[in-house]
Amino acid sequence: MSELLNHLFNRLVQKIYSMFYGYGCTVNTCVCVCVCVCFVCSTFIIEKQPPQVLKTQTKFAATVRLLVGGKLNVHMNPPQVKATIISEQQAKALLKNENTRNDSSGEILNNNCVMEYHQTTGTLSAHFRNMSLKRIRRSDRRGAESVTEEKFTILFESQFSVGGNELVFQVKTLSLPVVVIVHGSQDNNATATVLWDNAFAEPGRVPFIVPDKVLWPQLCEALNMKYKAEVQSNRGLSEENLVFLAQKAFSSSSVNPEDYRNMTMTWSQFNRESLPGRNFTFWQWFDGVMELTKKHLKPHWNDGAILGFVNKQQAQDMLMSKPNGTFLLRFSDSEIGGITIAWVAENPNKAGERMVWNLMPYTTKDFSIRSLADRISDLNHLLFLYPDRPKDEVFSKYYTPPLSKAVDGYVKPQIKQVVPEFTTPNPDPAANPTYMDHAASPAVNQPHAYGLYPPIGDPMLDADGDFDLDDTMDVARHVEELLRRPMEGQWSGQQS
Ligand SMILES: *[C@@H]1O[C@H](CO)[C@@H](O)[C@H](O)[C@H]1NC(C)=O
Ligand SMILES: *[C@@H]1O[C@H](CO)[C@@H](O)[C@H](O)[C@H]1NC(C)=O
Ligand SMILES: *[C@@H]1O[C@H](CO)[C@@H](O)[C@H](O)[C@H]1NC(C)=O
Ligand SMILES: *[C@@H]1O[C@H](CO)[C@@H](O)[C@H](O)[C@H]1NC(C)=O
Ligand SMILES: *[C@@H]1O[C@H](CO)[C@@H](O)[C@H](O)[C@H]1NC(C)=O
Ligand SMILES: *[C@@H]1O[C@H](CO)[C@@H](O)[C@H](O)[C@H]1NC(C)=O
Repeated sequence: MSELLNHLFNRLVQKIYSMFYGYGCTVNTCVCVCVCVCFVCSTFIIEKQPPQVLKTQTKFAATVRLLVGGKLNVHMNPPQVKATIISEQQAKALLKNENTRNDSSGEILNNNCVMEYHQTTGTLSAHFRNMSLKRIRRSDRRGAESVTEEKFTILFESQFSVGGNELVFQVKTLSLPVVVIVHGSQDNNATATVLWDNAFAEPGRVPFIVPDKVLWPQLCEALNMKYKAEVQSNRGLSEENLVFLAQKAFSSSSVNPEDYRNMTMTWSQFNRESLPGRNFTFWQWFDGVMELTKKHLKPHWNDGAILGFVNKQQAQDMLMSKPNGTFLLRFSDSEIGGITIAWVAENPNKAGERMVWNLMPYTTKDFSIRSLADRISDLNHLLFLYPDRPKDEVFSKYYTPPLSKAVDGYVKPQIKQVVPEFTTPNPDPAANPTYMDHAASPAVNQPHAYGLYPPIGDPMLDADGDFDLDDTMDVARHVEELLRRPMEGQWSGQQS
């Protein structure tokens, strides 16, 4: 054995000693070759994982690093790293050393990358900046499994020699499992597969086996972590929120967290079977809530202004004990990614009787037209956020500031929302200031004209909540559309 190799081995052994102090590695050359090879392999790591939901024809990145690269002096002749996508079966075979053929399950563009040496940190790494998955070959469908339940992995491999080609190292490493999608609509199903895998895979498993069912508290932990990460909030899911989710998941009415401690949830209950009476799964509902909160409700969630995970009956009970005009925000049970306002007010048809109303749920589409805070500001019949905070105290800092002066002679219109049944009537219908008011009106709480409610049986408002406000909202949207167009007079007078 050459002097150089001996030197190399000694250095590696020292390194191993320092890492596994007390492990008892003796300087038996034969053993050392094996140990050193394994050691080198185990230092070929993924620094930045590729995205676990991988969309075809979409650019993605990844970084792999050889921890001992600097020590081995391989940077003098930097090795190339190649990335390939392989199936779960191929990964299994690879780990069993069953076949060393270059199998792949698809084609990745720009999948070769030369390692770069970073002097300051002494690290050797390959940064794949511009990969994209051009084609994917799926395995034959197994039973009920859908394409978004199929897992692949990215294999990174490289080869380099040290000591003048006398010792050749082949290093390989596998990414976390990835789910390949071809369309954005598959994203939430794919995310469910990834969540379940990341949360519940046992260390050292055969690729990519996961338990078919998990204890409810374990799932709660995973959902909470996911929620905080997605919404980017420190405010996670409370015990009450989790009880609400358990009730939804198991169609149960128990409010005692202890009752769910021993319950298990199967993958199928999580994201295969629809919730009773719905056409979406438990996960799809939860994911919809996360998406909506992330995009439009984050500050309000952080402020604790959104109770959210409350069912209709609970909302009713909570509000009935509060003064008229008290409202709360809850996620819609019937619609994915919807949030509704529930409020307590007098029943127009029975003097002295109070009831809880539910507004048709808002979705992302609505909030891209006008924000939640502005919508709450528009609705003068909403006075106190449950339990008793004046609404302006909670929401006014998010109201869109009054419009600035006209620009270039144009006056900017503003879109406002009304629920006609709860709008203070205007003595002159032609003026219709609710829609046309150009100045942002401060949220003044006007007295309610309850006497002018429409007769009972109006299809647009229904005290039970699962009603249809479509007609009303259509009118409102129509007005919104109109207001987006510049007015006649503006065109004629202002053209330069
Ligand atoms: C492996 O793939 C490369 C190109 O991707 C090809 O040139 C080579 O012949 C393949 N080797 C085997 C053993 O299939
Ligand atoms: C990234 O890859 C695409 C497709 O192969 C190619 O058209 C593009 O020029 C590449 N961009 C860079 C910055 O390398
Ligand atoms: C949960 O399981 C443990 C042990 O299996 C048992 O002692 C306990 O009574 C169970 N709790 C409930 C609420 O079923
Ligand atoms: C998502 O998964 C559910 C349940 O398996 C299925 O019914 C639905 O079609 C899937 N949706 C998409 C867009 O793949
Ligand atoms: C559920 O059904 C409604 C219409 O009944 C449809 O608009 C919606 O896309 C469906 N949702 C899913 C997840 O299939
Ligand atoms: C709410 O309205 C009802 C019916 O008009 C009335 O009797 C009651 O006093 C009001 N309650 C509060 C707290 O304003």
